[in-house]
Amino acid sequence: MSLSTSSSNAPTRFLTGITTSGTPHMGNYVGLVRPSVRFSRRSDVQSFYFLADYHSLIKISDPARIQRSTLEIAAAWLACGLDPERVTFYRQSDIPEIPELTWFLTCVTGKGILNRAHAYKASVDKNIAKGEDADADVTAGLFMYPVLMGADILMFNAHKVPVGRDQIQHIEMARDMAQRFNHLYGEHFVLPEAEIDEAVATLPGLDGRKMSKSYDNTIPLFVPRAQLQKLIGGIVTDSRAPGEPKDTEGSALFQIYEAFADTAETASLRQAFADGIGWGDAKQAVFERIDREIAPMRAHYEALLADPAQIEKTLLAGAEKARALSRPFMTDLRHAVGLRNLAAQGAGGVRKAAKVAKPSFKQYRERDGQFYFKLLDARGEVLLQSRGFAAPQDAGRAIGALQKQRETALAELAGQLEPMDETQTLAVLDALQMLADAAE
Ligand code: TRP
Repeated sequence: MSLSTSSSNAPTRFLTGITTSGTPHMGNYVGLVRPSVRFSRRSDVQSFYFLADYHSLIKISDPARIQRSTLEIAAAWLACGLDPERVTFYRQSDIPEIPELTWFLTCVTGKGILNRAHAYKASVDKNIAKGEDADADVTAGLFMYPVLMGADILMFNAHKVPVGRDQIQHIEMARDMAQRFNHLYGEHFVLPEAEIDEAVATLPGLDGRKMSKSYDNTIPLFVPRAQLQKLIGGIVTDSRAPGEPKDTEGSALFQIYEAFADTAETASLRQAFADGIGWGDAKQAVFERIDREIAPMRAHYEALLADPAQIEKTLLAGAEKARALSRPFMTDLRHAVGLRNLAAQGAGGVRKAAKVAKPSFKQYRERDGQFYFKLLDARGEVLLQSRGFAAPQDAGRAIGALQKQRETALAELAGQLEPMDETQTLAVLDALQMLADAAE
């Protein structure tokens, strides 16, 4: 029942965000920004990229830092070639429908599910290990992080969410929310999937662990040339002397090079490692290679930073584009949950019925002389298929029972229906609910 991408020619919607809590670093660039910018040029893809500034409030209480980070991350996307005409590029806090949807999703999300979220659980485990209260210093914001992220994703009905592995659980939670909401209120949300590109390396940081703000081991993407050289000089290596062969396996320096170099360049550095290149020379080679790619973008980045008003304008234009979708969608969602114009009592159902196609029952007779029925979804796909009934009245009664007693009737009639798995059953229940809503 989900609006699958394969069944239509509509573009696949990709959506991802970066939390505005720091300076953009090489890990962001290699892991997310560079592949996303390339991807956004494809014609079968519709992209949504945003600055997750509401999320940054969970971690940071320094307003100037949030403002600065938002500016820097926006400038980095643009400097790396993102075309705001082609994609929808916006700032989360410019879309008031997102916090509104967050509340709707909050009301369909089990608290127990949120208890299991990695980031929240890690804080709780740490507190317990220290003998403190489990929730000491844990804000409700941290606890609700996955719901806000779910709203980001579901607001634009994204099919694919490019993220790092540490975010997979969040996407699964967003799927759960979508499923639950659809089950209760009809088919509104696409079920999103995490998009993990195996070809895109996780970049190690200065200390060899994953490059991450939280490890404080990052190389900022756009530091001046001299500083970049110094930072690369500080990447951990072993203590082998020049002339001794070096391992590429497990070498952060080598992995960082690989993320920038082509196959031939990588092969020749591998050879140099085997031939005993000194660490100083290796670092110089890595620095030169990275700087060759970054330098033109760095100049662009600096020009952008010097004109924040222009970036502000770009973001506001992006927000307008995003809200052209989120505003009407939110209107539908408000209606779906029952936040409706009171003067239009009952008319809501009519309006909805006129606008969206409904599921339907079809009754027919087969050549075997028996009477059958099936339930079709709004697009005419079969959701449920009956077995043969001796008389048309029997088939009619079964349909009536399904319409009135939905779940109960489905269980009672099981022997007279073709078997269904859990997903199919949920789809049938959704459809029956939609029919009931439309009949109101
Ligand atoms: N949680 C993501 C991170 O820290 C940022 C984020 C917020 C995000 N909302 C999102 C990513 C929606 C993808 C989709 O990296």
